[in-house]
Amino acid sequence: MKYVIGVDLGTSAVKILLVNQLGEVVQEVSKSYPLIQEKVGYSEQDPNIWVEQTVAGLSELLANFKGNPEDIEGLSFSGQMHGLVLLDENKEVLRNAILWNDTRTTKECALIYEKVGKDRLLEITKNPALEGFTLPKILWVKNNESKIFEQARTFVLPKDYVRYRLTGELHMEYSDAAGTLLFNVSEKTWSKEICHILGINPEICPPLVESYEQVGNITAEIAAKTGLSTKTKVFAGGADNACAAIGSGILEDGKTLASIGTSGVVLSYEANGDKNFDGKVHYFNHAAPEVFYTMGVTLAAGHSLSWFKDTFTKDLSFEALLADVHKVPLGANGLIFTPYIVGERSPHVDANIRGSFIGMDASHERTHFVRAVMEGITFSLNESVEIFRENGKEINTIVSVGGGAKNEFWLQMQADIFNANIVKMKSEQGLGMGAAMLAAYGCGWFNSLKECADEFLKEDKIYTPIQENVERYKGLFSIYIEVYRNTKELNEQLMEYRY
Ligand code: XUL
Repeated sequence: MKYVIGVDLGTSAVKILLVNQLGEVVQEVSKSYPLIQEKVGYSEQDPNIWVEQTVAGLSELLANFKGNPEDIEGLSFSGQMHGLVLLDENKEVLRNAILWNDTRTTKECALIYEKVGKDRLLEITKNPALEGFTLPKILWVKNNESKIFEQARTFVLPKDYVRYRLTGELHMEYSDAAGTLLFNVSEKTWSKEICHILGINPEICPPLVESYEQVGNITAEIAAKTGLSTKTKVFAGGADNACAAIGSGILEDGKTLASIGTSGVVLSYEANGDKNFDGKVHYFNHAAPEVFYTMGVTLAAGHSLSWFKDTFTKDLSFEALLADVHKVPLGANGLIFTPYIVGERSPHVDANIRGSFIGMDASHERTHFVRAVMEGITFSLNESVEIFRENGKEINTIVSVGGGAKNEFWLQMQADIFNANIVKMKSEQGLGMGAAMLAAYGCGWFNSLKECADEFLKEDKIYTPIQENVERYKGLFSIYIEVYRNTKELNEQLMEYRY
């Protein structure tokens, strides 16, 4: 039997999967690492710790592996997006990585709009200037740590650095480059124009490769440390969301993914790179060859529910919290929740907006609030689904993953609100599986990623929309979308009372 390894370099841990030729996960290892948060809004990690923990995880995996290490033919990556790793002329790390969830760069985002222009930025990068993206972080270092910036010879993203340390080869691949704001998404090239306007030497942009391309082999040093073979081929890998898409089979038109974790994501396959979504949703290169995906992000999806539980019903388990929700009628007896408890990304890029319960009534009980929270999270994701549809996409099948796929009632609610068939997968390995599939395809086990998905991924159950509920939810959704407009200014005014 042959094997591949998928390394998912996440924000809280690196998770490593060993997958055989049948797509079965035969081993799984996870090694965590801390966030460094020196100030409010700061979020950093030490790239050397990523490497240490990845090496420790691979060593553990190999120690328990009964086969011949040479049978592990390939290894690839999924990585947290956008994080800035700056390297000097010896490819040494110059400072901690500034991560995707670090929000210190509001000024730099304004500068990008001022100098490049909002329309031109959208034309080139297809995305708005968000604090989380890489370019504002580069500008922050340039403006605040000029000595470090002067020594910078190249920048890479988190998984690129780990891959470099495993192979000695330094690259970036298209799906992650798409989240830097320095990249022309439809032409698949670095934007010299943006570099030039903002005074960044284009030479700091690393060479680009495809996600499924072999970039090297495991070095002798890493092989000695981990027990891996130097024959194991290393493939570039993809951005975590692109890998989640591959690992859920989002590889053809009409296929969409809804992931409800701490944040929520609706991600849809997109064959063309020349559409215009006006920056309301992200538009990135897929890790599958020559195609794209669009993605809406709800910052606090599962987080809204865990916030509610921790604040009001700490002693209840999630199961107990959701147990009676089906007894409450659709619409929670006139109660609407907007999940903006940490601001929002899609479709409203708005760091100041905050959540609301609208329509509270003396008859409402805890279960009404819980149902309203679940409906509000799903409505928020539906705003992205609607943007996709308005731009001519057919959304008829949505694969649901994450916490939102663990509850039957929520799965049916998603079918009714999204008005689409909701697919629950048999085994949900998402990102790590997507990375392993890139290695399997790179190794030539399959003619396409789609062929690999047909072999590796199995559906469990399909939830179909109940027409009566679809109609009722359409009405409620039209009220929900008004809440943002009507609470935006109030929340701006409330800013001075926030501390
Ligand atoms: C995507 C994004 C997050 C990170 C998390 O734009 O910021 O999904 O990739 O790892």
